[in-house]
Amino acid sequence: MILPIIKYPNKNLRKKSQDLSKEQILSPETQGFIVNLIETMFKEDGLGLAAVQVDKHWNMFAVATEDGPMVFINPKIVYKSWLKETDEEGCLSVPGVYGLVKRPKTVIIKALDRNGNKLSMKAKGLFARVLQHEADHTQGVLFIDKTNKITRGDDVLRELNTK
Ligand code: NI
Repeated sequence: MILPIIKYPNKNLRKKSQDLSKEQILSPETQGFIVNLIETMFKEDGLGLAAVQVDKHWNMFAVATEDGPMVFINPKIVYKSWLKETDEEGCLSVPGVYGLVKRPKTVIIKALDRNGNKLSMKAKGLFARVLQHEADHTQGVLFIDKTNKITRGDDVLRELNTK
């Protein structure tokens, strides 16, 4: 099922997400939600999609990888490299707006997978950027809070900000 994505400046995007227990993760409700979250991410051509973006305030997000979709639950970025990289980002919740964001080039993330098992992963480049962007969503943070230059959609953002 495709879930509706909430858009900036919807205040629910600013809510912090709640951690899930292993029992909650394995419940049919959560397992069904994960399937829908992934389906919605692919339908909308996103590299990642956090639960908060579909107005579900569970601490999780999905990302698209070369090896298929992955789900990170209760994610924690436990290492960020000193070396940073600037690149352009967009977001399904801020359509039409793109901006440059400086982020650590390499991160290590710890989380639970969709079966509630612990996972730890080192990521760099675009994958590290997507993980950080999505982890920010779970804390109510958007890329437009961090950008130092809007590259496209400046007019769109200005109009949204007056809403
Ligand atoms: Ni986003």
